[in-house]
Amino acid sequence: MTTPALPPRPGTIALPRLCDVDDLDRTSALALLDRAQTLHAAALGRAPALSSLAGRTVANLFFENSTRTRTSFSLAARRLGAEVVDFHAHTSSAGKGESLLDTWATLRAMGCDAFVVRHGNDDAVTGLADQIQQRESTPASAIINAGSGRHAHPTQALLDALTIRQHKPDLSALTVAIIGDIRHSRVARSNLKLLPMLGIGELRVAAPPGLQADDLPPGVQRLDAIAPALAGADVVMMLRLQRERMAAAEVTDGAGYFRDWGLDAQRLALAAPDAIVMHPGPINRDVEIASEVADGPQSVILAQVGNGVAVRMAVLEAVLRRR
Ligand code: CP
Repeated sequence: MTTPALPPRPGTIALPRLCDVDDLDRTSALALLDRAQTLHAAALGRAPALSSLAGRTVANLFFENSTRTRTSFSLAARRLGAEVVDFHAHTSSAGKGESLLDTWATLRAMGCDAFVVRHGNDDAVTGLADQIQQRESTPASAIINAGSGRHAHPTQALLDALTIRQHKPDLSALTVAIIGDIRHSRVARSNLKLLPMLGIGELRVAAPPGLQADDLPPGVQRLDAIAPALAGADVVMMLRLQRERMAAAEVTDGAGYFRDWGLDAQRLALAAPDAIVMHPGPINRDVEIASEVADGPQSVILAQVGNGVAVRMAVLEAVLRRR
């Protein structure tokens, strides 16, 4: 007779909130990654659901579209035994002018404990968390940033780091190239904080003129062509051309962008032979990445998606731990 596996131990860290990578330090980031790895089988439904968040309610407040982040937070909460409230901004009273703070207070009054917020404004999520902190000396509800404007997407950076670590455990030996629309990318900004915190070896960013960021942290190599960014890279992170954040005059035509900046098999051969290819999604096929690469053997894009559930389970446990 085989002994049934024990459920994983609940996470050991407590976070007051997760609005940005700045809310983490190396120790807490590593603890979240370790916990997410432990939760991986349960996250993907290959182990029994857990109950560490039984009795808790997680509200998803999405003011921008999402497939991956919203769904994975919902699954994460449910697989830890929590209830989920899905708030849809476009059919809600936000359309009648209700503020984000009043929306939070309304859902809080119904017993929601954690609020997963996506918003188009850079400062909206941190601003909400700060306002709540002023109201409640010990905040009873937790705020998690599910992507704010161009500013931050901390759980995406965590799931990216988990994916890199699963494929290439010695982060200090790695060269990571982040390529594409850096300027409009909250994914890039959060990765540019988290990867150095975790001790990544070398970090490069490459973007066409007008799509480079003017706020790169020190130590990051800035390039204006794709070939030198790819040369010998161990991890290639392609970014989506975020047309929805561009003024009409800035919008680049897809075919021209692909010619100069698209990742196809020929260009990928410039990277290390065992390089992994990442993309936060959604993908613009044949704009920033060719299907032969996105669906090819070096792609870990769907592994990133699966890791999103595990990381978000770890984060939900951490922000609800002390409340
Ligand atoms: N990566 C990401 O945030 O995807 P969604 O917009 O689908 O959530």
